[in-house]
Amino acid sequence: MKFHLVSGACGFVGKNMVRRLYHTTKDTIICIDNLLVGTHPSEWLGLPKTGQIRDMEVFGEDSRVLFLKEDFRNTVRYMLENDRYFQDQYGLEFEKFGDVYHFAAIVGGRLTIDGDPMMVALDLSIDAEFFYWATRHMPGRVLYPSSSAAYPVDLQTESDAIALKESDINFKKMGEPDMTYGWSKLTGEYLAKIAAGHYNLKVTCIRPFSGYGEDQNLTYPIPAIARRIARRENPIEVWGTGRQGRDFVHIDDVIDCIQLAMNHIHDGTAINIGMGRLTSFIEIIEVLMDIAGHKAEIKTLTDKPVGVFSRYSDMSFVKEKLGWEAKISLREGMERMYKAALEREKQNAN
Ligand SMILES: NC(=O)c1ccc[n+]([C@@H]2O[C@H](COP(=O)([O-])OP(=O)(O)OC[C@H]3O[C@@H](n4cnc5c(N)ncnc54)[C@H](O)[C@@H]3O)[C@@H](O)[C@H]2O)c1
Repeated sequence: MKFHLVSGACGFVGKNMVRRLYHTTKDTIICIDNLLVGTHPSEWLGLPKTGQIRDMEVFGEDSRVLFLKEDFRNTVRYMLENDRYFQDQYGLEFEKFGDVYHFAAIVGGRLTIDGDPMMVALDLSIDAEFFYWATRHMPGRVLYPSSSAAYPVDLQTESDAIALKESDINFKKMGEPDMTYGWSKLTGEYLAKIAAGHYNLKVTCIRPFSGYGEDQNLTYPIPAIARRIARRENPIEVWGTGRQGRDFVHIDDVIDCIQLAMNHIHDGTAINIGMGRLTSFIEIIEVLMDIAGHKAEIKTLTDKPVGVFSRYSDMSFVKEKLGWEAKISLREGMERMYKAALEREKQNAN
């Protein structure tokens, strides 16, 4: 049995990864999250709390999910002082971590990225301290999530909308990424490459495009739009003109691709995770309205921040290297989102 470490475990991607690891392995998962954005495991894990070791909560009859509410930078500092921190403090028995999934980050939606760029820049410190520790501890494998926001923004304009290829980020000839968020991800990618090349750490680096899923919080566009439609609002509000587009990819597909990539890519090379399809917000609204049998006007809110005009992936490198393609179509994903929004509305009404 291995011990895995998941930072930012209670956020959107983290909780989906923790559940996947719990249900598909016999391993123990140590989850760290300061709950700045994430929610407590009792809300999403679907397992009973079965114990407590000091400040660590234990979940599941087999005690395989362990949760610490902590700033991950503190955890990293404790582990740097004592490489056997978890063994000595919590009586756990293992040598090294198997997989380390580093999801702790200040992400937020467009409002945070544009509205508080210095807060997002804290990701630089989270990532730098993380990689420093990882090159000392040398866990089995490391997952570093970069982002599509690392791509040069001048390739994402209305007049120059292209499917973004991994090679469009070139460290010898840099473009400007999307705000401090994209900048921190570029730096993280650079550190990932150095960790792999200079220290021989096995690092897998991903650039997810716009992940969505049933348990994503309402600051993200798809759950927010699905809710408006489940409430049968009229008009349906959309930020900007709604003509701006993204590459929406369901979280189940993202987790599948991460797991496959971790088995095959260890040198820090970053890969796209998307559907390879540009979808506008108007199209999302139309698909959801069609599923709901609801016809409403669309009201554009042009004073809201919208980011770049077009952001979508060219998935040919991933298809060639890993033989992977997203399985969940836009229609199926929106059906799931609509059903989840309806259920949420029903629960709120009770
Ligand atoms: N969701 C996507 O589609 C997407 C796309 C591209 C990249 N990513 C990247 O994947 C990672 C996870 O994204 P997400 O969507 O789950 O974001 P999220 O905001 O839902 O989750 C991040 C989690 O980290 C926690 N956190 C923040 N600072 C922390 C700290 N100092 N110590 C401990 N925990 C801390 C938050 O409480 C939150 O639970 C991020 O690095 C993000 O940039 C996600």
